[in-house]
Amino acid sequence: MSVVSLLGELSGVGASRAGGYERLAWTTADAECREWFAQSAAARGLDVEIDRNGNLWAWLHPSLPGKALVIGSHLDSVPRGGGFDGPLGIASAFAALDALAALAGSGPSRPVAVVNFADEEGSRFGVACAGSRLLTGSLGAETARALVDAEGTTMAEAMAAAGLSPQGLGADAGRLARIGEYLELHVEQGHLATSAGHDGLTRDQPLGLATEIWPHGRWRVDIPGQQNHAGTTRLADRRDPMLGLADVIRGVREAAQNAGVLGTVGKVRVSPGAVNAIPGSVSAWIDARGGSEAAVRSALAELESSVGLDLVEESWTPATRFDADFAGRIAAAVGADLPLLPSGAGHDAGVLALAGIPTAMILVRNPSGISHAPEEYAEDADCERGVVALAAAISELTDWTRTP
Ligand code: HGY
Ligand code: MN
Ligand code: MN
Repeated sequence: MSVVSLLGELSGVGASRAGGYERLAWTTADAECREWFAQSAAARGLDVEIDRNGNLWAWLHPSLPGKALVIGSHLDSVPRGGGFDGPLGIASAFAALDALAALAGSGPSRPVAVVNFADEEGSRFGVACAGSRLLTGSLGAETARALVDAEGTTMAEAMAAAGLSPQGLGADAGRLARIGEYLELHVEQGHLATSAGHDGLTRDQPLGLATEIWPHGRWRVDIPGQQNHAGTTRLADRRDPMLGLADVIRGVREAAQNAGVLGTVGKVRVSPGAVNAIPGSVSAWIDARGGSEAAVRSALAELESSVGLDLVEESWTPATRFDADFAGRIAAAVGADLPLLPSGAGHDAGVLALAGIPTAMILVRNPSGISHAPEEYAEDADCERGVVALAAAISELTDWTRTP
């Protein structure tokens, strides 16, 4: 089946009336995405299993000797997210295996698995790549269980409601040891400078290889105030946390500008959030990332001193370099001149790379570069090119020509 048709099967899941997709972790839409994954895998004769951390695995020839080549991505989204960030990687994996399966009488010389990592976006519980971090142990089980969403539901409660026992969460060294390499195909996000001298992938070079993931993190700042009546409280008597929020928002932009990094305030929680009540408290979340950890940290230090508030670090990913040799093998297998480019976006591939697993990412051109938005898009022809490249890489990396 083509990658476009596979993506089409998902297009109705979690579609938001306001545009884009609402596929937050451990919600009904996420469950429907997981069901699609399981059905797609079963239809291809793959053995489907869910691991102790909620990641879904679809195995081809799991009993063959050798470590597995794992391909995949995630199916959860940010609120009103695009339809390609995550799903393109998984749909491409199934389509690539379909293309290879068409080579009658052949198969891989070692196990291959398609993985759907749980809760990559961290949109509901705040920690990015929760499923892959739990797998590698870079997110502790207790910490994960206690993470809380905006409604006060813990990750443990959400997982239990989805049928997964949260008591089983934890590092899975045995599973990690089965992974030889991880290869993730992903839609391009933004237009970052490539080794071909362009800002972003081009129509002539629609595929690229990621070299690294920028260091990035998420911080929360809590601003106290005094809840009171909007119509009866003199301005001079107010302790309005919204003024502090205004300082934080401006401060993030200035500090980011000064440090040459990216700083974003994309999520704010105002309590009680009534038009006619001065808020009693406000929380704001800051996403900061850039070419170096020092630059990101210097922006945060400037912000803390300018607003006089403490930042609570909720998630941090150090600078991550992908394995150049592994990327070279992918490029040779694909046989095309694949531009190299960094990723400003975080990925499960980064978590596995930090755990020492040879990891690479094939990026597929996104004409506008817009992502984490309904307008996120990749052209059908480029998606199909991504599948051809992924199939060539799988064939090379698993010596597919030999009959198992
Ligand atoms: O936030 C990120 O960079 C990724 O999309 N989770
Ligand atoms: Mn993604
Ligand atoms: Mn994303």
